[in-house]
Amino acid sequence: MSDKAILEIDGEKYEFPLVRGTENEVAIDVKALRGATNGVITLDPGYKNTGSCQSAITFLDGEKGILRYRGYAIEELAEKADFLEVAYLLIFGELPNKEQLEKFHADIKSHSVVDDDVKKIIDAFPKSAHPMGVLSSLTSALTAFNPSSVNVDSEEEMYNAIVRILGKFPVLVAWTMRKKRGLPLEYGDDNLGYVENVLKMMFKSPNHDYVQNEVLVNALDKLLILHADHEQNCSTSTVRITGSSHAGLFVSLSAGISALWGPLHGGANQAVLEMLEAIKEDGGDTKKYMAKAKDKNDPFRLMGFGHRVYKNFDPRAKIIKVAADEVLSDLGVEDPILDIAKGLEKEALEDQYFVDRKLYPNVDFYSGIIYRAMGIPVEMFTVMFALGRLPGWIAQWREMRLRKEPIGRPRQLYTGETLRSFTPIEKR
Ligand code: CMC
Repeated sequence: MSDKAILEIDGEKYEFPLVRGTENEVAIDVKALRGATNGVITLDPGYKNTGSCQSAITFLDGEKGILRYRGYAIEELAEKADFLEVAYLLIFGELPNKEQLEKFHADIKSHSVVDDDVKKIIDAFPKSAHPMGVLSSLTSALTAFNPSSVNVDSEEEMYNAIVRILGKFPVLVAWTMRKKRGLPLEYGDDNLGYVENVLKMMFKSPNHDYVQNEVLVNALDKLLILHADHEQNCSTSTVRITGSSHAGLFVSLSAGISALWGPLHGGANQAVLEMLEAIKEDGGDTKKYMAKAKDKNDPFRLMGFGHRVYKNFDPRAKIIKVAADEVLSDLGVEDPILDIAKGLEKEALEDQYFVDRKLYPNVDFYSGIIYRAMGIPVEMFTVMFALGRLPGWIAQWREMRLRKEPIGRPRQLYTGETLRSFTPIEKR
């Protein structure tokens, strides 16, 4: 294969270098395009063909259903690593040794107290507020309580900002749920593991001890690992582009949380469960909903199906499907929703509409069923996704700043009115 691409416009030829990634992916480097062609740009709504950056964090091959963090297969990480190890791997590039992991955890714990005034902000939200809105606001508000901007040229300052947010974020996650449930905003126990502590902070009752359940800890650990990064998706791109203006880490993350909230992205896990519930309430007729999903005059989509990048099984969905079976059976929960989900999956995989469009179950199709079995309310599902994605967002933000990427500022093709004269109001 040659090392350049040739573009011809009005008989004039322009050459652009090809750039290759370590997995032999090829990109046309169009940095010089606009300058060389006197103003011509590329147009790619939804960025379906546009690489926004070079990144060494996550590799994804949607055709083959491959997902790797820093070179490690997601299947192996989900089986052998814990969430904090994966967070370290994503952010710093290598798996930590025992001392590094212990120090990382200790440093996170030393930053796990949130200014007590944050409780006043939480109190001001109505109980009906969606937890994602509350979480996004609180993450942004953390900047006000930790106002010094991070000098990204200082490894120490970068590290401190990272462990600070990894310490405080689970507290905010737990408090958004506790607020909704009318529970006091309390802390967990720093003697516990990261994930165990999250569960304790979320579920601890004020009048009796919280007893850890190994099944829940393992299930949550696995879910968080599976959600930890997914290269340049909508929320991650939002974090990178927000941070590219040199806005701080916490506000960049807050922007990412807002992007994640939408039902086409992280909000799909809530939407899947609501859809499965609605199908159950409606008598469990999956065929009716399959027909709705295929009807172009009906806005209904089969939530938890399809993916911008995966045109094959989402490898995370495969792992989660098995985990859903295990968790429900370990907890002794019988959930008719799981049967509806499996029925829908079977029908969709055999249906020509879904086959032609390469629509497979994605990560969100089964995750809500596990969250529900764990006792996590539906509105908290996307918050749990955010907790898992946090290390990925941090890793991507850090990489973007260390590589000194320029401010993200796409171009547009203007299709509005050309110059016209102002019409006075009485003549309009
Ligand atoms: N149900 C029915 N039809 C679908 C679905 C679906 N879930 N997804 C895509 N299609 C159809 C779509 O109508 C289009 O058909 P046609 O070519 O006839 O117009 C074709 O498939 C391609 O769809 P698209 O919308 O152009 O594809 P996209 O890459 O822009 O969108 C997606 C990807 C994930 C937004 C979309 O598949 C979708 O809306 N899925 C449901 C929501 C969901 O589960 N989102 C979670 C994604 S995974 C977790 C995450 O990223 O956060």
